[in-house]
Amino acid sequence: MTPPHENPGLRVWVADDAAAAAAHVADVVARFVNETERPVLGLATGRTPLAVYAKLAERRAASAVSFQNAVSFNLDEYVGLDARSPHSFAAYMRRHFVDATDVFSGNVHVPNGRAQDLAGEARAYEARIKAAGGIGLQLLSIGANGHIGFNEPGTPFDARTHVATLAPETLHANRGDLPDPPPRQALTMGIATILEARAIVLLATGAAKAEAVRACLEGEPDVACPASALQGHPDVLVVLDRGAASLLTRG
Ligand code: GLP
Repeated sequence: MTPPHENPGLRVWVADDAAAAAAHVADVVARFVNETERPVLGLATGRTPLAVYAKLAERRAASAVSFQNAVSFNLDEYVGLDARSPHSFAAYMRRHFVDATDVFSGNVHVPNGRAQDLAGEARAYEARIKAAGGIGLQLLSIGANGHIGFNEPGTPFDARTHVATLAPETLHANRGDLPDPPPRQALTMGIATILEARAIVLLATGAAKAEAVRACLEGEPDVACPASALQGHPDVLVVLDRGAASLLTRG
């Protein structure tokens, strides 16, 4: 794999603060959507992208972007949570994307965490992505343990969409958004699925992500930091605030 400092396709942008970082990512997404006839987005949930969705909603309200031709595929969903559960990522997407923009709800795909046959749902999800032409722009954030989607440390880089067991630190980090008892598993795009996106933009903000960002960009690519798999991708933009960038040494 090409080391990050030798991979011209991997660029890092450090913004002054988290709001500026999110605004920059929203610009990248809006430009991609405006310039692409049938934009296929890969989308993420969690706290970090909330500011990106808020900016995209603002741009939609100002008619600066339209999602009417867009299709999207979310990275993951908790196993056992119904799409109607307020804790589900499906509900998150309705709140922060479908209800906030002009995207057609039928074009917003989230894996079905309640499928009887989860392996079958994983295969069908991959097939739906392929049928849509593949993901043009994938939005990612990163877990403090280096996960992307729900690909926890130890996940092979060639994994495709699969059922993942959530790491204890992930359950702890997400506890405020989860029911009691929390789901222990999730259906997630695999690292190989993510790497097939034609372009990737990863947003990380706050000092709590600094070590994961350092391992992602400056560590040897290794399953211990799933995000380090991005070093081998030809078109990755990493957008950080000063806190998330604070442990980087290569300038
Ligand atoms: C969840 C998501 C990940 C995301 C992570 C970071 O676990 N499945 O895709 O990267 O959260 O979340 P946050 O942005 O809330 O720190």
